[in-house]
Amino acid sequence: MDVNILTFVLLSTPILGAVIPIQKWQPGTRYRADSIRAQVKLELFIDLLCPDSGAVWPEAKRIAETYGEDQVDLVVHQYPLPYHQHAHLAAQGFYLVQDLMNDTWAFNYMEWVLERSDLFRSPSTETRTTVEIKSFLAEYVRGIPGNRLSSAQFVRYVDFYRNPAVYAWKYGAQRGVSGTPWYFVNGVDLGISHALMYEEFSNLLDRLLN
Ligand SMILES: *[C@@H]1O[C@H](CO)[C@@H](O)[C@H](O)[C@H]1NC(C)=O
Repeated sequence: MDVNILTFVLLSTPILGAVIPIQKWQPGTRYRADSIRAQVKLELFIDLLCPDSGAVWPEAKRIAETYGEDQVDLVVHQYPLPYHQHAHLAAQGFYLVQDLMNDTWAFNYMEWVLERSDLFRSPSTETRTTVEIKSFLAEYVRGIPGNRLSSAQFVRYVDFYRNPAVYAWKYGAQRGVSGTPWYFVNGVDLGISHALMYEEFSNLLDRLLN
């Protein structure tokens, strides 16, 4: 077979048959909108009901705040794990708040859920229905001033955000993410799934920045 034809077939097949629909937007949510041109890109895959994700988030946030948007581009991907029962619903809530409010409020929601993730996991949830879990997640909106998003709206609309959460999961799965937290630095998979602490992040970053 002609080499050029072979190349064409290899290149075109995955595009025509893409298993994940290609979206207009970039996957993930930038912690700081202006960090897009930073020297190092740090991608963090987290599950809102995962205790280790809860442990890593303050450390990653401190990294982004200390290094600043010229040096570190922190991008967060939702990755609801199948073995955390209500994780998908919690991720849907993130996209709802992001869409109806903005990224700042979505990160605020993320922190709120991470801080109480044990209440959304078994055994706390064993006798709770999905409707009750939705109402419980909706309690977050009480912290939003001016009634700009009501808890009733949260409960009513949260299922409309199934697709972005499904997409986020497919995206992570295709990149080989098999747990949370999970990291890519400048696109390279660190291949670890435990909570890194500030010093571990900074040791890695300092080598790349100097
Ligand atoms: C989101 O909205 C709040 C006000 O409710 C504002 O302070 C904040 O800067 C906004 N964030 C973004 C990323 O636009």
